[in-house]
Amino acid sequence: MRRWLATAAMAGLLALSACGGQEPGGTQATGGTAGGKQQVEVFSWWTGPGEADGLKAMVQIFQKQYPNYQFFDAAVAGGSGDKAKALLKTKLDGNQPPDTFQGHAGAELQGYIQDGKLEELNFLYDELKLRDVFPSQLVEQISVDGKIYSVPVNIHRSNVMWFNPNVLKEAGITAPPKTLDEFIAALEKVKGTGKIPLSIGSEWTVTHLLESVLLGSMGTDAYNALFKPGANWASPEVKTALEKFNTIMSYAGDPQDDWQPAAKQVADGQAAFNIMGDWAYGYFHNPPEGGLGKKSKVDFDWAPSPGTEGTYLWLSDSFTLPKGAKNREGAIAWLKVAASKEGQDAFNPKKGSIPARKDADKSLYTDYLADALEDWSGNKLAGSIQHGVAVNQPWLASINEAVGLYLGTKDVAALQQALDAAAKANLQ
Ligand code: GAL
Repeated sequence: MRRWLATAAMAGLLALSACGGQEPGGTQATGGTAGGKQQVEVFSWWTGPGEADGLKAMVQIFQKQYPNYQFFDAAVAGGSGDKAKALLKTKLDGNQPPDTFQGHAGAELQGYIQDGKLEELNFLYDELKLRDVFPSQLVEQISVDGKIYSVPVNIHRSNVMWFNPNVLKEAGITAPPKTLDEFIAALEKVKGTGKIPLSIGSEWTVTHLLESVLLGSMGTDAYNALFKPGANWASPEVKTALEKFNTIMSYAGDPQDDWQPAAKQVADGQAAFNIMGDWAYGYFHNPPEGGLGKKSKVDFDWAPSPGTEGTYLWLSDSFTLPKGAKNREGAIAWLKVAASKEGQDAFNPKKGSIPARKDADKSLYTDYLADALEDWSGNKLAGSIQHGVAVNQPWLASINEAVGLYLGTKDVAALQQALDAAAKANLQ
């Protein structure tokens, strides 16, 4: 982990000194022109199958509406922004920001805001009357002292259990497990068939699994209280949740490189279950150029992660306006597309997410996405840990480190101590 960070920081330094290069992934000096058009450098981590489709759809609208600008894709590969965020920090610290970058609405952006790296966007919210089109709870989440610093383009759900109906059938599982104990029993049944009970990807996907297990074991109010002053991560309730997590992890297959290969094991019938955000839907469902072109309810199916039905463990991708953006006007044009009904309705059906706007065209959201829209409107809310809602970046880094150590030792008591220490260090 440390070695990787060092590499990323080095990549960042190289990026800062590489003037005029053309490599994607943020290694190009920005503010340039291409074919007489001024470039707009958009930084994200949506390069992989499934994710890139959504971005591409929004880019098409951007290019149509703003023919004088050229979209420049500065995406850095790696699910959940694992690698992108380290490089972004280097760029921001070196005052070489992209024109706009993707960040999660909520606690993730706090550090950038406190460090004065972002422009406030109240002017855009006023001009486009955005407070009327986004849910008020979302606007609250992204406001700091009445100022808003990002434009949410979607709502993703983290607590989704994807499963392969045939593999479940083979194992004699007649209905998707609804509680963590049922889940553990189902994993045991799959083990008996020789298939992988639970697929996992790189380290962050295990933190992703952990948040669903914490929510499923503790319940929504107790989960949400974990991020408020006075939270007690040393409690017997957290201990129970972590013990269940440890049992569940004992059924995990070999860690895959990222979330896509882990999800694919389910869609291909090699594994029974994968707990992953609904970006997996875009990946499963989109046609083969970008996705897997799999059949819903045949090759893959879904249910809320065990124990979490009735709660939307949410996160939101949003775009920002860094101070010192070389093409500020171009970035604002991008933000306008990201905020618009047309932009969101192009992006989200491909991305596997639902629009942040309340007035989107519902007929475009079918199959899994229709379920998601319905649940979003009626469920309780809980904020994702791994995807920036509930904890800020230093806290998440400590949680990821604790999970990383756990993966080596499988020491649940040490995991709880490390999570407790991380909460104490980050909660005032
Ligand atoms: C999340 C992000 C999603 C998706 C996912 C996997 O953090 O919000 O949009 O990209 O990572 O990479």
